[in-house]
Amino acid sequence: MAAREQLIRLAVFGQPVARSLSPRIHARFAEQFGLRVEYTAIEATPESFENRVRQLADAGGRGCNVTVPFKHRAWQLAARRSEAANRAEAANTLSFEASGWRAENTDGGGLVAALEAHERLPLPGLRIALLGAGGAAAGVLGALLDRRPERVTVANRTLERAFALADRHADLGAVDSCTPADLPDKGSFDLVVNATSLGHDGSAPALPPGLFVENALCYDMNYGAAAKPLAAHCSQIGVRYADGLSMLVGQAALSFEIWTGKTPDTGPVLGELRRAAGE
Ligand code: ATR
Repeated sequence: MAAREQLIRLAVFGQPVARSLSPRIHARFAEQFGLRVEYTAIEATPESFENRVRQLADAGGRGCNVTVPFKHRAWQLAARRSEAANRAEAANTLSFEASGWRAENTDGGGLVAALEAHERLPLPGLRIALLGAGGAAAGVLGALLDRRPERVTVANRTLERAFALADRHADLGAVDSCTPADLPDKGSFDLVVNATSLGHDGSAPALPPGLFVENALCYDMNYGAAAKPLAAHCSQIGVRYADGLSMLVGQAALSFEIWTGKTPDTGPVLGELRRAAGE
């Protein structure tokens, strides 16, 4: 009889984190390979974050996910960092290795996989508008540019933040910046990605229909209740819309692969989450 599979200890740290879907997603991934995975959601504070992660590492944990508001801190704490984490100055994935903690950022890769695999939208040559210039936008801009779109325009209420983010990525491809009000002057777009925190307050970014080419996609990094305002707006103006659930599952799959070396099938897990949400 084969030796019992070793238990792989993982967790997600955030504030708040109780409603995170990650434990469920990783449980499904583990089932696909018959792996024994314990993945828990651990609430932390800015004061306790580092110690709580260290406790997991000391208890034999293999790694963890990190969500808002600790991604920048996780990146700072790591001994080694991937290129994607350095671009974002944030990490959503830590691996506890003998030589120290390794920081990665799978948010951008998760978004690209969601767009290209689930939404069937190949990114090379596209005109993309990225709304927002905070942590969420910083996590994905490098990965978008790596796919060689024609251009990415970063539109943000605070122009200086958009400019700084674009400037930090200028070596990766064509990227410029503007305010949301000036976005229509930049032309129309094949893909508009909402990386603002609007949605949580029941509002949606103002997106005039002329912003979208025919058959364009509006991809919202929000999901659940926060996705409803933009979904409703897109339905009203007749623009194809997708919420961020596919990105959530996509980033989780890349993290799982980092920790286990196995590439999960995201389709069934996404389907299950959508059914559970009553979609
Ligand atoms: P996150 O880590 O989720 O990106 P963040 O760093 O606070 O959070 O960034 C939130 C983003 O949503 C920012 O781009 C913010 O614009 P500013 O940089 O001008 O603050 C954007 N945002 C939040 N509320 C907004 C609003 N009412 N109108 C327009 N943009 C808004």
